Amino acid sequence: MKNIVILISGSGSNMAAIIRAAQRENWAQTRQARVAAVISNKADAQGLVFAREHGIATEVLDHKAFATREAFDSALAALIDGFDSPAQPVLVVLAGFMRILTPGFVQRYAGRLTNIHPSLLPAFGGLNTHQRALDAGCQFAGATVHLVTPELDHGPILAQAVVPVVPGDTAEVLAARVLTQEHLIYPRAVAQLLQKM
Ligand code: GRF
Repeated sequence: MKNIVILISGSGSNMAAIIRAAQRENWAQTRQARVAAVISNKADAQGLVFAREHGIATEVLDHKAFATREAFDSALAALIDGFDSPAQPVLVVLAGFMRILTPGFVQRYAGRLTNIHPSLLPAFGGLNTHQRALDAGCQFAGATVHLVTPELDHGPILAQAVVPVVPGDTAEVLAARVLTQEHLIYPRAVAQLLQKM
């Protein structure tokens, strides 16, 4: 059995989409995988409620309790490694996890650490992607699932989805349109990666 550990900071709608897909598609049987835990750096992250309601173990690790980024990341890795063994390898899924990870953390889970970013990478890495796409006059926007490498919002692309930009779009309206596609491509990309593990 492979252990999926999902890291969140907020609403967790991508996390919920993955949990739903795992249940609907019976990943325990079809992919020998389960969502083992959800970890948040914020105690009030809405996604924690959904995870608990779906019987998934949750942990909160408050980054403010750590003096350095390295100290937080090594505590986070220690939590994740509780779900990692040769027989039960872990896949770490970032889903709206609003922390920059240290190179050491990224290297520890190389090839089994994924992220979703709400733009068509390599365009518009970083924050405020939707407003920046609108300001640039883009006619299309979208989302990217990628393997995480030490450089922020880079790394091999696993999946992308494209949506049109519609006249009159605000960043919020465009974000909502992109998010519906995120919920389709992230579970699919995770399922495909599980096949290769
Ligand atoms: C998504 O747009 C994701 O691409 C970005 O942060 C947002 C998280 O939303 N990284 P949610 O917490 O999954 O609802």
